[in-house]
Amino acid sequence: MAQFTPRVFSGVQPTGNLHLGNYLGAIRRFVPLQDEYPCIYCVVDMHAITLWQDPAELRNNIREVASAYLAAGIDPKKAIIFNQSQVSGHAELAWVFNCVARMGWLSRMTQFKEKAGKDRENASVGLFAYPDLMAADILLYRATHVPVGEDQKQHLELTRDIAQKFNNDFAAQIAAEGHGDAFFPITEPLIQGPAPRVMSLRDGSKKMSKSDPSAYSRITLTDDADTIQQKIRKAKTDPEPLPSETAGLAGRPEADNLVTMFAALAGIERQAVLDRFGGAQFSSFKGELADVAVTALAPLSAEMRRLRADPGFVDGVLATGSAKARDIATVTMDAVKDIVGFLRAR
Ligand code: TYM
Repeated sequence: MAQFTPRVFSGVQPTGNLHLGNYLGAIRRFVPLQDEYPCIYCVVDMHAITLWQDPAELRNNIREVASAYLAAGIDPKKAIIFNQSQVSGHAELAWVFNCVARMGWLSRMTQFKEKAGKDRENASVGLFAYPDLMAADILLYRATHVPVGEDQKQHLELTRDIAQKFNNDFAAQIAAEGHGDAFFPITEPLIQGPAPRVMSLRDGSKKMSKSDPSAYSRITLTDDADTIQQKIRKAKTDPEPLPSETAGLAGRPEADNLVTMFAALAGIERQAVLDRFGGAQFSSFKGELADVAVTALAPLSAEMRRLRADPGFVDGVLATGSAKARDIATVTMDAVKDIVGFLRAR
């Protein structure tokens, strides 16, 4: 198998309500990777419009995600920060992948089924083809590692299938063009960290999500201290005190979620949380959890507010990042065009 230079790619949709799940499952984990690998972090605005977005809000939300990247500590001198629609290669490669991926593969995507709901005939074609665009995001940069939360696992498996099929379908041309036995890497998902799946505060069996109609289901990155305290106070729990061992969290999804959140925010093991709170009632635990959440999130939301007041700066970061991304993307797209047999000016 051909060797690929390690490169990290990940993306977040600018659909508003960035929450603690996005932060713990993804954005916070992007930061240390920038010191280990070349990293590309994208605001995936083209994915956002698979469901209708108000144009003015979309623009704001693009800046919100970029501000969250910067506030979390991603340094635009080390990593590329940009928005997808500024690099036309995403759409171009997605089209090629629409012709590589099979209807049956996309029909199995659980996220499409969830988002389309019962009225599938009325879902946008873009929503159905969404995973092809996601594969294009990653493979346009021939990224080898993709840090994401657990909910993206199936999409990353599809990305691997698309890379594999492209490599097989065009094997002869790939070799003839001097790319060896594979043009695209088989990307590794990085689904790790203490909280790959943060659950709703209202229902421990549902993931925390931007689109949940209840604002009390999630802690957003722009919530102030009072709001965070209130949301945690109202979080659903069960009547038992907290257990002393992690095994005691089995079958108690809400307790499990709150303990996981505490551990992730405080940077300690779940067992260490239970060493402290085992046998305690939720009321006292929730007060401490709120303090830990406010301490962890206050500097982030203050920096996001500061950046949001300076849209010119944020837009500049995205423009500079897009130019750098475009340079890499153009090299890939030129090679893809040669491999599939398109004629282009040389
Ligand atoms: P999105 O915008 O829904 O979420 C952004 C990131 O946050 C993670 N995440 C969570 N992690 C833990 N607990 C949760 N409750 C939770 N909710 C969300 C997601 O797993 C994701 O890492 N399809 C992607 C965006 C995308 C992408 C890509 C990601 C487009 N192209 C290429 C990686 C590579 C999405 O909708 O993420």
